[in-house]
Amino acid sequence: MSDGLDDVVAAHTVLSEVDGAAGRLVIRGHSLAELAGRTSFEEMAALMLDGLLPGLPQGRELPVALGKARADLFGIVERTALSDGLGPVEAVRAWTAQIADGERPETALKLLAAPAVFTAAAVRKRRGLAPIAPDPTLSQAADTLRMLRGDTPTAAQAAALDTYLVTVADHGLNASTFAARVVASTRAGLVSAVLAGISALKGPLHGGAPGPVIEMLDAIGEPSNARPWLEGALDRGERLMGFGHRIYRVRDPRADALKQAIAKLGADAGRLRLAEAVEQAALAILRERKPGRSLETNVEFYTALLLEALGFPPEAFTCVFALGRTTGWLAHAREQIETGRLIRPQSVYVGPQPRQAA
Ligand code: ACO
Repeated sequence: MSDGLDDVVAAHTVLSEVDGAAGRLVIRGHSLAELAGRTSFEEMAALMLDGLLPGLPQGRELPVALGKARADLFGIVERTALSDGLGPVEAVRAWTAQIADGERPETALKLLAAPAVFTAAAVRKRRGLAPIAPDPTLSQAADTLRMLRGDTPTAAQAAALDTYLVTVADHGLNASTFAARVVASTRAGLVSAVLAGISALKGPLHGGAPGPVIEMLDAIGEPSNARPWLEGALDRGERLMGFGHRIYRVRDPRADALKQAIAKLGADAGRLRLAEAVEQAALAILRERKPGRSLETNVEFYTALLLEALGFPPEAFTCVFALGRTTGWLAHAREQIETGRLIRPQSVYVGPQPRQAA
């Protein structure tokens, strides 16, 4: 029995390799540094799904097909009322569940487009604003920002979002990807697999951490408050959001890819200075308090700053993560269907046995 399935190998994959000791991430034969900042969301989706989804539009046809999928999905927003009080992730999940299930390229295309349309619509509805229809001629990153904010983003802003989406596209057998593979292994369909991924991702120990990072930065307010605030949080038994990782024992390479993207964007310098001060203080305190454990900055810390600078509210950060990670979930689901079997582990019963008849 391995609590948390640490060190259990449950799949062979051609998709990505996470080297936690070296702080290295390889995605389909490329280092993260080769991909982040040089690859669009559409190119990343094509790379991830290469050879796994025959019939998926190729080359320049893919952005066109994705634009059309976004336009089609807007109909779901228009005709499906959701109950009030759903957060953006729950709204994205509910609208995504309206897509007919299947394992075909058309289904995958809709799923790749869905978080872009549904995230923007969910945020606007919560603000009492009308959702904005997609512009199929734009790239997915540019259209996501336009549907969210109502203005056309600059090329630098669209490029920064592409960098984020590529950086989080895949990451070995993380909790949400494993959940997606389990569901895909039952042949339930790609929509069901992606819904499982979204549901696993939303937890604060996985993709739900960057919202709380913003709350932490806001509560700290200025660099000189960092140490006392962080020590207080640890004294209360809380975890510092954006630090620690199950696999990485060194700095998460994705944190640096995102930090570079923030610098290129020319985001608020004061905010970045505060974040750097908080990061340094957190790392020092975690070293003092957990000397046996190597707790470093993870991807969520700079995710929070980048998505904030692009205009996403913290409550929608996990949806943007889902937008990037859907490429990984779909590729893993297809790989599981092609090469895997039904996933069905065993448990050890430790409860009472029935009483023997006298
Ligand atoms: N702050 C304070 N203490 C921490 C933190 C943290 N961020 N992370 C781990 N620890 C401590 C634990 O309390 C534990 O201490 P103990 O042994 O005295 O009980 C020790 O370090 C080991 O922790 P584990 O829970 O074994 O680490 P695990 O590998 O299970 O957890 C996790 C990894 C969930 C990411 C954890 O580091 C955490 O909760 N981080 C904060 C939330 C976060 O940033 N999540 C995003 C992760 S990245 C991603 O999923 C995309």
